[in-house]
Amino acid sequence: MDTWESLKEECLSCRSCSLAETRHNVVFGDGARSAEILLIGEGPGQHEDEQGKPFVGRAGKLLDEMLEMVNLDRTKVYIANIVKCRPPQNRDPLNVEQDACIDWLRRQAALLRPKIIVCLGRVAAKAIIKDNFRITQEHGQWFERDGVQMTAIYHPAALLRDVHKRPATFEDLKAIQAKARELCEHTEI
Ligand code: URA
Repeated sequence: MDTWESLKEECLSCRSCSLAETRHNVVFGDGARSAEILLIGEGPGQHEDEQGKPFVGRAGKLLDEMLEMVNLDRTKVYIANIVKCRPPQNRDPLNVEQDACIDWLRRQAALLRPKIIVCLGRVAAKAIIKDNFRITQEHGQWFERDGVQMTAIYHPAALLRDVHKRPATFEDLKAIQAKARELCEHTEI
């Protein structure tokens, strides 16, 4: 069984795909290692690559504001990405890159044992919930696997591009808050 420290150390030296050649930092994850809620993004952008931390750019600032609206912050959730290294020009991570990387997330989830998983955007929802996930139709819906409740919301970067998606996301966040109140034992929300 991994420990957080051994898993992080191993992950930081990963060279399983070609993203290792262009990255500045591996973005392992951030937040509370005792969190009951796991948020999963797509992959690091430029600022995340520079700082080694997920969601620290503009989308990250919006994510923090969204979390605050439902009384959540990074001390109450854990945040990770499908791929840990930045895809050049912020393109979607290729399947071969996702396949090479997904085991790190599996091992993080095995350590965390979250009650709730929230996918941020289409790429994460397809990788985690189901391959044919349609974010416009299925955001906010709940799926259960192995006792874990999973849902997806629009990616914060999509909400920066299209403010019309924000009201639906606020409703989804309120549903996540209600679900967390029901299921999470030690998260004040
Ligand atoms: N977008 C993501 O999906 N993840 C990050 O960490 C930053 C931006």
